[in-house]
Amino acid sequence: MAHYGDYQNEIYGAGLRGIVPGLPVDFANLKARAEAAMAPHVLSYVQGGCGDEGTQDRNAEAFAHWGMVPRMMVDCSKRDLSTELFGQTLPSPLFMSPIGVNGICTQDGHGDLAAAKASAKTGVPFMASTLSNDPLEDVISHCGDTPAFFQLYTPKNRDLALSLISRAEKAGYRALVITLDTWVTGWRPRDLNTANFPQLRGPCPAELLHRPRLPRHARRSARGGSPGSRRGVGRDLRAGPDMGGHGLAARSDFASSRPQGDLPSRRRAAGGGQGR
Ligand SMILES: Cc1cc2nc3c(=O)[nH]c(=O)nc-3n(C[C@H](O)[C@H](O)[C@H](O)COP(=O)(O)O)c2cc1C
Repeated sequence: MAHYGDYQNEIYGAGLRGIVPGLPVDFANLKARAEAAMAPHVLSYVQGGCGDEGTQDRNAEAFAHWGMVPRMMVDCSKRDLSTELFGQTLPSPLFMSPIGVNGICTQDGHGDLAAAKASAKTGVPFMASTLSNDPLEDVISHCGDTPAFFQLYTPKNRDLALSLISRAEKAGYRALVITLDTWVTGWRPRDLNTANFPQLRGPCPAELLHRPRLPRHARRSARGGSPGSRRGVGRDLRAGPDMGGHGLAARSDFASSRPQGDLPSRRRAAGGGQGR
């Protein structure tokens, strides 16, 4: 794969023919473009955080304390940023964070597919969220040769969790990443002020509502509107709109029964003061 930095040669080369980039490359301008393009309810969901958003802001500010360290007399024309993760060699120590309801971030409603295509192009692994708008099988089909991971919010229904894990494994996801800090939905004033909770609108989470893909045992336990059925999941979410729970989250559950099958797994916190 070419160096990411080679991208700038393309830009300068095109500039000689009078072509300027269609999109800015700096964060501030990208952010401004996104703010202008997104519908208010999407922006509120993506940009909003918990409480007064102070934690989120301070987390972002903390990155400003990192700087460039110039290295003299070091040939950096050939770079190797590769690293090992989950027994695989990746071209760089980067992977995409899972973004729930990502679908609504593109005009066609298929933001998960757009991000998966970007992963295929860049070699940066994609991590599909439990709250994808497109079924996880469709999403990974756009990842090309780049490995993809599946993020699991552990639903309260254990059968549903197991069915998601087994589908992820069958679909070809190479690792399972379990988010453990979302037991309840965070208090997010921006979204609350407009009663905005995109998880409850549209086809998301496709994974949970895609009932025909649920295995028989999960459907059976889901009958009668219990968690796992289309009605049951919707009811659960409405009753307390959180995907959090403890179906499989207990450390001991993973340690003793390896419910994730053969997939390597890592536990994570969504964190960031965003309350997701
Ligand atoms: C719009 C949005 C949606 C997110 N959805 C998920 C999700 O579905 N699952 C998850 O584990 N984390 C989710 N996160 C958390 C991110 O994956 C990430 O951990 C968090 O944003 C912290 O990284 P950052 O400081 O670079 O934003 C979401 C974050 C944002 C902003």
